[in-house]
Amino acid sequence: MSKILLPAQIKYIESFRNEKDPLILEMEDFAKKHNVPILSWQAIEFMEQLIRMHLPKRVLEIGTAIAYSSIRIARNLKKKGIVHTIEKSEENAEKAKEFISKSGYGNKIKVIVGDAFNILPQLDKKYDFIFLDADKEDYKRLFDYCMVLLKKGGIIFVDNLLWHGYAATKKVPANYKTSTNYIREFNKVFTSQSSLKTTILPIGDGIGLGVKV
Ligand SMILES: C[S@@+](CC[C@H](N)C(=O)[O-])C[C@H]1O[C@@H](n2cnc3c(N)ncnc32)[C@H](O)[C@@H]1O
Repeated sequence: MSKILLPAQIKYIESFRNEKDPLILEMEDFAKKHNVPILSWQAIEFMEQLIRMHLPKRVLEIGTAIAYSSIRIARNLKKKGIVHTIEKSEENAEKAKEFISKSGYGNKIKVIVGDAFNILPQLDKKYDFIFLDADKEDYKRLFDYCMVLLKKGGIIFVDNLLWHGYAATKKVPANYKTSTNYIREFNKVFTSQSSLKTTILPIGDGIGLGVKV
């Protein structure tokens, strides 16, 4: 059995976390208290490193929630970098706008309120980095739009590809069966694109990382 990333190793790595921004900590606390799903700290730290390396000018996020990831992306962008983030829940979008205003990154983040299926066909400029983090049953269809909107050399980052571990296990609880099947189907599609170099990484809930070629 692998001795990598058992609870003791996760706790050990976590002991080195040194997030100091009080707003980020407040948002993590808010998400926990209100059951808002946000990217795990491991996944967002990895994404922030990618952003620092790739320095995208135009970032698209599908699924804002309270703008936790949007703010963490925005804080690593250069002067001209912007994040367009789409959220269909008006309640989440309102909260997101509150947090964005508190963060001071209002000039870098544009929240687009609406269903991504309606918004994406209206976007005409391509993106350097796309983060897909919406409802799992919609991943396949949203991914098709992402492929059109992603620039050559651009990065696509998709969360939840291990889906609480169930994508890889035989025994799946009844209430996770349908969503697990969606993720398994998506993983096949994601990793078989001729114009995308992909990998699935066991970080957080499983990250799909693709570079458009
Ligand atoms: C997992 S949360 C996003 C978390 C956020 N990216 C973060 O890490 O901080 C998913 C969000 O996507 C939104 N969503 C789901 N399907 C959507 C769609 N088709 N269009 C726009 N938003 C969608 C949900 O309302 C929810 O707020």
